[in-house]
Amino acid sequence: MIDVARVRAETPGCRNVIHFNNAGAALQPQPVLDAVLGHLRLEAEIGGYEAADRAEAALESVYASVARLINGAPEEIALVENATRAWDMAFYSLRLGPGDRILTARAEYASNVIAFLQIAQRTGAEITVVPSDDAGELSVEALEGLIDERVKLIAVTHVPTNGGLVNPAAAIGRVARRHGIPYLLDACQSVGQMPVDVAEIQCDMLSATGRKFLRGPRGTGFLWVRRTLIGKLEPPFLDLHAATWTGSQSYAIREDARRFENWESYVAGRLGLGAAADYVGAIGLQAIWARVKTLAESLRRALGATPGITVRDLGRERCGIVTFTMEGVPAPTLCEALSAAKINTTTSSRFSTRYDMTARGLDMLLRASVHYYNTDDEIARFCEVVREQAKAR
Ligand SMILES: Cc1ncc(COP(=O)(O)O)c(C=O)c1O
Repeated sequence: MIDVARVRAETPGCRNVIHFNNAGAALQPQPVLDAVLGHLRLEAEIGGYEAADRAEAALESVYASVARLINGAPEEIALVENATRAWDMAFYSLRLGPGDRILTARAEYASNVIAFLQIAQRTGAEITVVPSDDAGELSVEALEGLIDERVKLIAVTHVPTNGGLVNPAAAIGRVARRHGIPYLLDACQSVGQMPVDVAEIQCDMLSATGRKFLRGPRGTGFLWVRRTLIGKLEPPFLDLHAATWTGSQSYAIREDARRFENWESYVAGRLGLGAAADYVGAIGLQAIWARVKTLAESLRRALGATPGITVRDLGRERCGIVTFTMEGVPAPTLCEALSAAKINTTTSSRFSTRYDMTARGLDMLLRASVHYYNTDDEIARFCEVVREQAKAR
């Protein structure tokens, strides 16, 4: 059980807003804020390099904190500036050629698909979107049916940007493992709201961001790469941190996952990311996941009972992201009305998840994403504002 009063007291933003934009950037808890601000202050007081030296042990422990969160090992972690860069460093390290196939999900994120398209246009590799099942999840049966010797990558988004869907990451992992196909999981929207265990999922590479459900600072993210794969992946960019200049004509790439990093980084942010991972660990992901699901389902029930509203979330077991449309009221208008009532939400457009939105004939959704520090009272207030908008149509 989560002590909701305590986690709210430890979250300064809860005093100002009803924050249902946790899939955008969640409210940071005080320990994250303390870690970031403390280091920024130290940099100002003694100098940036000197502050990093003083924080060396704490910075090193961030790798262990992040690894613990997903059941990986510290040497398998690269700390980078966001989930996109984490994902890119893995994807662009793969060598794809003409006729090679990438299997992906219908709910794949725009940035990932744009990268697939770039590589497909450059190399002649092909992209295949695995059909979804009746519930809207990636069909594992269809995935199995698409496997042949040309498939060189399975790259799937765990939780999409545009809804409550949770793709069956572990079932996909079993298929990937059985056929020996590299499996890249975009866990940007799942890490921090549900248990994500790389050993159980059997993915080979996983990318995530700090600012969303993990409640870390903006401008932080991480990549996890399975130990046995690291040496086989040549990063698309190298610098003097990722590699050593060993002779006038030679260099040697690092052995660990830090080969996917570069030298300069947001040091205060890294410390904040470590604090966020530790904070989640102290609360417990099982408890967080249980509460997130309960709150989200209660919000969906209330919205579903409101005339003019259609809840749009797919999947069997849905997460903390709740998406819906209101007949006659564009999502941006609703988002603005909620904002005027100090309720944070956002919209999700076709440009972020074109395959999925096109298949469902959708253009724009209102996205309300809850976290464990939200409350039933906040849901009630949210629904009150939404109902007022519905009545005023
Ligand atoms: C599924 C998914 N993947 C990747 C990203 C990109 O994350 P970042 O902005 O940290 O690069 C997002 C952001 O919304 C996302 O929803």
